[in-house]
Amino acid sequence: MKNAIVLAAGKGTRMHSDTPKVLHMVCQKPMVAHIVDNLKAAGAEKIVTVVGYGHEMVELAMEGQCEFALQEPQLGSGHAVMMAASLQNDDGLTLVVNGDCPCVRPETYAMLYDALGKCDMAVLTAHYDDADMYGRVVRACDGTIEKIVEYKDCTEDEKMIHDINTGIYAFRNQELFAGLKELKNDNAQHEYYITDLVEILKAQGKIVKAISACDPEEAQGINDCVQLAAANRYLQNRINTEWMQKGVTMINPDSTYIGPDVTFGSDVILYPNVYIYGKTEIGNHVTVYPQSLMVNAKIGSNTVINASEITDSEVKNDCQIGPYAHFRMNSVIEDKNRIGNFVEFKNVKFGTDSRCAHLTYLGDSDIGSKVNIGCGVITVNYDGGHKFHTTVKDGAFIGSNCNLIAPLTVGENSVVAAGSTATGDVPDGDMAIGRVRQINKPGYGKEYLDRNRRKK
Ligand code: UD1
Ligand code: CA
Repeated sequence: MKNAIVLAAGKGTRMHSDTPKVLHMVCQKPMVAHIVDNLKAAGAEKIVTVVGYGHEMVELAMEGQCEFALQEPQLGSGHAVMMAASLQNDDGLTLVVNGDCPCVRPETYAMLYDALGKCDMAVLTAHYDDADMYGRVVRACDGTIEKIVEYKDCTEDEKMIHDINTGIYAFRNQELFAGLKELKNDNAQHEYYITDLVEILKAQGKIVKAISACDPEEAQGINDCVQLAAANRYLQNRINTEWMQKGVTMINPDSTYIGPDVTFGSDVILYPNVYIYGKTEIGNHVTVYPQSLMVNAKIGSNTVINASEITDSEVKNDCQIGPYAHFRMNSVIEDKNRIGNFVEFKNVKFGTDSRCAHLTYLGDSDIGSKVNIGCGVITVNYDGGHKFHTTVKDGAFIGSNCNLIAPLTVGENSVVAAGSTATGDVPDGDMAIGRVRQINKPGYGKEYLDRNRRKK
């Protein structure tokens, strides 16, 4: 059985933030969620996240995605691992992963599980020209790993070492929990360091191996907002490069922002300043113009999105969206639609080949196919306490500047005349007119203007 323990109890003091460090976002996904998802992709079946500072927030963000163990107070990374006691009787393999290194690839985690075929403990290491405050990996003459020394405990000579501990380790589970019993906190920070397990296992005659990360940058840890920005840049560049290699065109990859769980079909063109996050799926032959934001959106094929925001909603094929459309809360736009120039949909089903081209709010509505929604239509769906539903059936025509006061149904091929406030159902084929009748006062317009303009 493959297990993993993610260390996520620290506050992250150097972030100077009330949010627990592991909930800070990299490519718009919390650090800890990157790690848990990538561990699963590497085959981890049971994942225990050790939480402490702000644990309610972390548990809420990661609900249903892993198990949790509480560490209070936080007495160091070794102490944190002890809290994952629910694993202690398992005899599988266990990875221990710092919660602040979100860029590690699944392949790297898999490599560490595999390393246990040839050793008893594996440490993922990296070579950094600027080893900064990372723990240093001290090697024996034969190149095997001797010990890990925390920066604060380093001698001047040890500070010159460029091999660093990434904070990712693999153990046989039983040996891990046996070793933890021997940890002591006699160091500069008076903490229980997981890194001391290197010497503890070696003293038992066990083999400890250093495994170098193929790409040293993937193991970068995040302790402050400067490192957070660096990790964002690195991961964004990696994600964008992978998609360009698969055929996505980016006019300027440096200003194209894509989350790790987004997917694209073929012949997608992304203009600068687009933000595509969450579990968004984009189909084939889609163009996204600047200033568009999509989160958990599904976009069909041959659709164009221009300067629009789409959240938790779907736009199907052959649609033209925007500029300035906003779809949210499970809206579904069927094929061949043109929607945009300041249009908001909330929880709307919008049928095939309909139009809603200007200045409109639709909420909690079912709109049929071949419907025309004129300029400035509003569904009045909220009375201050409750939300009400609007239905507009196939072929209906809603004139410009109408209020549809929900609940109501506008029947098939019926019309609501421009400027109307419709307060009730409109039967199929009927026309509803609900507005004040016009009166013309002969000559009064000019007289009125002459009088008022003279006053100036
Ligand atoms: C740690 C390593 C260091 C390594 C570096 C890599 C130790 C002692 N040091 O240092 O060798 O080079 O990571 O990035 O492990 N945590 C807990 N409970 C605690 C303490 C920490 O859950 O009591 C968690 C933190 O939330 C964090 C992770 O462990 O996600 C690492 O802690 P951090 O304080 O960032 O360790 P570093 O000083 O970076
Ligand atoms: Ca760290």
